[in-house]
Amino acid sequence: MRKNYLLTRRGLLCLCLGTLASIGTLAKSTAFNNQVRDFTAVGEASLKERAAAKGLIYGSVGKYRTLSSDAEFSSRFPQECAMLVASNELKWRGIRPSPDRFDFTKGDWLAEFASRHNMLFRGHTLVWHNGLPEWFQEKVNSQNAERMLVDHIKKVAGHYAGKIHSWDVVNEAVYPTHGRAEGLRDSPWLEFLGLDYIELAFRAAREADPKALLVYNENHLWYEGQLRANTPTGEAKRTAVLKLLERLKSKGTPIDVLGIQGHLRGHQLDQLHPKKLRAFLTDVANLDLKIMVTELDVRDHKLPKDIDVRDRLVAKAYEDFLSVVLDEPAVMAVFTWGLSDRDTWLSRVARRKDGLPVRPLPLDAQLNRKLAWNAMARAFDNAPMR
Ligand code: XIL
Repeated sequence: MRKNYLLTRRGLLCLCLGTLASIGTLAKSTAFNNQVRDFTAVGEASLKERAAAKGLIYGSVGKYRTLSSDAEFSSRFPQECAMLVASNELKWRGIRPSPDRFDFTKGDWLAEFASRHNMLFRGHTLVWHNGLPEWFQEKVNSQNAERMLVDHIKKVAGHYAGKIHSWDVVNEAVYPTHGRAEGLRDSPWLEFLGLDYIELAFRAAREADPKALLVYNENHLWYEGQLRANTPTGEAKRTAVLKLLERLKSKGTPIDVLGIQGHLRGHQLDQLHPKKLRAFLTDVANLDLKIMVTELDVRDHKLPKDIDVRDRLVAKAYEDFLSVVLDEPAVMAVFTWGLSDRDTWLSRVARRKDGLPVRPLPLDAQLNRKLAWNAMARAFDNAPMR
């Protein structure tokens, strides 16, 4: 009897300890922690004001189509943003309808909108394997590629010279699993021009617009593992990007900034390794380069349905990422890939299976501030001064 009783007491003790241990594990887990995180932002100041108070620039991509047709959105946009980033309007497909014709209409409208509202204007992008016009494949070849590329940069960057704060000169050129020299991505530019196309592009951009900051922009640098089979790990990408930047700098290439695309994934935040990302930023800064977070948004298509839970996880992603990145003084700017859930590319490319609208941006579809906005505001408020 007595023995049994003792065993029961021991059993009870084990049960209690077990329960305490699992509460401990839960407390460490993302979801639980997040329920108690306080996303309070002090005061009503806008994101651009909070960023500016720390010597940072905040802005967003804005589409011609939305800004020119949605009066409510276009008046809200400059209240939060100090920079307007062109969306598709300055990409090859957006600006070069035929080999010999450039159409600056939409880009000019954006430049004028930015200037009218005292915003800086940012160009995206002069060289990319994507966003090419339909005629490209038929008309561009290894004989004329150099002329086509240099001509394009001179015309486009030349047209906006004096109006552009910074240009994404080359976008997403690194992809180590393609097995090419220097870890570069398979792209028509690499195929036609070889390794030096990147340097060629930066030199042409500097000549066309000596004042704009020239940016090399890359994706998936924040992410640790692979996105899918055959995609490079974040580690492999960071290593190859550093090598590329070192090579460009050692050759005296006019490059000023590394752009880190911030397309985060709310359901895969365990892929963010603060120490590794932080160390990478130091390595980049040591090359005497500035850094911009260029395309920040948070995919929520695989997060729970409940809006409160979802918004908290999205906000957590913003705050966790930005608190690592803004710790590096070389980071000079943060740009989201959209301001409001009303207008985001993710409602097309990362839809929810339950059909609910996605909520990846700082403002909701009614242009109200969400927890993601609070998270950004807090990250700016807590950032060290530049
Ligand atoms: C996206 C645009 O948002 C879409 O409207 C377009 O259809 C495809 O391109 N990385 C980039 C951006 O550098 O140019 C991409 O923009 C998003 C991913």
